[in-house]
Amino acid sequence: MGAAARGVDFGLTAAEAVAQVREHRPDVVFLCSPNNPTGTALDPAVVAAVLDAAPGMVIVDEAYAEFARPGTVSALAVLPGHPRLVVTRTMSKAFGFAGGRLGYLAADPAVVRAVQLVRLPYHLSTLTQAAARAAVAHRDALLGTVSAIMAERDRIVATLRERGLRVADSDANFVLFEVGGDQTVVWNALLAQGVLVRDVGLPGWLRVTAGTSAETDAFLAAMETVT
Ligand SMILES: Cc1ncc(COP(=O)(O)O)c(C=O)c1O
Repeated sequence: MGAAARGVDFGLTAAEAVAQVREHRPDVVFLCSPNNPTGTALDPAVVAAVLDAAPGMVIVDEAYAEFARPGTVSALAVLPGHPRLVVTRTMSKAFGFAGGRLGYLAADPAVVRAVQLVRLPYHLSTLTQAAARAAVAHRDALLGTVSAIMAERDRIVATLRERGLRVADSDANFVLFEVGGDQTVVWNALLAQGVLVRDVGLPGWLRVTAGTSAETDAFLAAMETVT
């Protein structure tokens, strides 16, 4: 198992992805779109090229797909005719149901049958299934905050860029931004002002999750004093 490298801007082109698949010839390729911690969705051409080049299964993790910017193409669009493609999603993010521990996948019926064969018995409790069914029945209410979070996310990206910071394009509910110095110093300075962001271990970069409008205001005001 290995992790393939991304470019300096954290992007992944079809040519780079294919070169790495050819080099490692993995049984399973995981593509994360939108990616964590960068937040950027993959160009569908990358998924298509990897599907062509990969000798085995290609799993596209779309945990944050509901937050993607308009026009972003889901790998679901290329499922027909690609029996080695699996698209995974979760109810943890847009549904705000992380405590339910409920993920799901879309794939060719043959793949779904194979998964049914090897899955553990009672892998999802009856109560979890009932809660998930209720969540799906009330999806409009549960997904109602997604557009508000996307608006806050876009405001964070635009404001930090206006202030001259490098920011990764985000199709998720978080934003990866360059602090212009030691990220641990900025992380501590933000915390001292009551703002908790995430240090994901990328030197010089931090990740902030989009929440309410007041939280964005607090984050942006704190950033003005620390960078
Ligand atoms: C990219 C990505 N995929 C999948 C997950 C899994 O979420 P969960 O295990 O809550 O379904 C996460 C959680 O942070 C994630 O960031």
